[in-house]
Amino acid sequence: MFGKRGFGNKGASPSAPAAKPAAPRTGGIKQATTEKAATPEEPPKVVARERTEEYYDIKSEIFNVLIDAIDLTQLTQLDQESAREEIREIVNDIIAMKEVALSIAEQEELLEDICNDVLGYGPLEPLLARDDIADIMVNGANQCFIEVNGKIIDAGIRFRDNAQLLNICQRIVSRVGRRVDEASPICDARLPDGSRVNVIAPPLAIDGPALTIRKFKKDRLKLDDLVNFGSITPEGAEILKIIGRVRCNVLISGGTGSGKTTLLNCLTAYIDGHERIITCEDAAELQLQQPHVVRLETRPPNLEGEGEVTMRDLGKNCLRMRPDRIIVGEVRGPEAFDLLQAMNTGHDGSMGTLHANSPREAISRLESMITMGGFSLPTKTIREMIVGSVDIIVQASRLRDGSRKITHITEVIGMEGEVVITQDLFVYEVLGEDENGKVLGRHRSTGIAKPHFWDRARYYGEEVRLAEALEKAAAKAEEVV
Ligand SMILES: Nc1ncnc2c1ncn2[C@@H]1O[C@H](COP(=O)(O)OP(=O)(O)O)[C@@H](O)[C@H]1O
Ligand SMILES: [Mg+2]
Repeated sequence: MFGKRGFGNKGASPSAPAAKPAAPRTGGIKQATTEKAATPEEPPKVVARERTEEYYDIKSEIFNVLIDAIDLTQLTQLDQESAREEIREIVNDIIAMKEVALSIAEQEELLEDICNDVLGYGPLEPLLARDDIADIMVNGANQCFIEVNGKIIDAGIRFRDNAQLLNICQRIVSRVGRRVDEASPICDARLPDGSRVNVIAPPLAIDGPALTIRKFKKDRLKLDDLVNFGSITPEGAEILKIIGRVRCNVLISGGTGSGKTTLLNCLTAYIDGHERIITCEDAAELQLQQPHVVRLETRPPNLEGEGEVTMRDLGKNCLRMRPDRIIVGEVRGPEAFDLLQAMNTGHDGSMGTLHANSPREAISRLESMITMGGFSLPTKTIREMIVGSVDIIVQASRLRDGSRKITHITEVIGMEGEVVITQDLFVYEVLGEDENGKVLGRHRSTGIAKPHFWDRARYYGEEVRLAEALEKAAAKAEEVV
């Protein structure tokens, strides 16, 4: 998609010029491991190349000569492979001419960097090629952080200057027909591999363009992976599988990056294959495995401010498409009303995620999204609607040590007066912290033997499985940790 990004996948050209003995300059690339990323049980596997000032000087010197020597527009017409070959030859000539002493490895690296600058997304390329990165956060030309294994670490790359960074941002967003500049400094886009991109440029971003990339995971985590990570117990996971299968209406609540989308994706794996599922997202992230899925995506307004299609538009349209279930990637505004409406009118088993820090807060967020959407309904009516629609709220959290946990599986069971009543089936309790800052805690069943969705489970023939999982979980809860 971006052409070849790896370092080792091309035939290294051994035509590197021999170093002249007279005061050769060195490339100045040194290997640095990012040790601060390491937790005791996970040795650091992140190896970032840290480049010295000297390296950047040599690079920009060669780069400038290269730009003068080649016809850029012609180059972009070539396919990636030929374009790289072309650049390789010229760069080799320049290195020979300038008498820069570089080892073959250093030369390859320099060449890779330059090709990335000219043909791709510059210094971002090696980061984009890695599968272990969740987010890339560029804060102006000189600072770039990545999230790996739940920890934010320095990526060890930088851009020539803010102009180069903005140029790359521009290249990214132009793919979706947008532009970033002073006049429209905020822009969302998507990379060809599905990664989500946000750019906010000066003057709004004071210290240079801020670029945030949520990397698209090719292989989304499965519920069993979450069990292996300790995000949830096997019994908790079993109950989630049943919840997904028996068409409970589910809201997944959590903060940014807490694992909501991952969890939603996991839950959809347990939907029966014959159901017609319609997904609505701002940027398609879900990877449903069922045969009968229609995927819809919102559209931002174009440069003239026209043509916007909102989540609300999609939600309303969905209802006319004879869905069995509707899945809304992220509920942010008045579309909350449509999702509840869908849940309420025979599309049970619908699901969505929303941003809140507890199941209680999720309910009040829903309520305020509906109120702010201009529906002039009395509070009590809105709450009745929520109670009548939502069966389960699953809470995802990213704890302070970077680990992600499912902290609540909570049922919405009814109203008392004007108050929505909920009941926790599972909770995660934080007990403390070990000497390395790792959070210690335990998942605990609240001992409820017959949850509110019992009849639903029975209808789908899952009550024995449910009873077993609950029993096992309750027995475990009595073990003292
Ligand atoms: N339980 C988990 N354990 C470890 N990593 C997780 C877990 N859940 C999600 N992740 C990772 O965290 C990142 C953010 O997850 P995502 O589901 O996109 O979050 P959200 O939708 O809440 O913003 C992804 O890279 C994902 O693979
Ligand atoms: Mg998400």
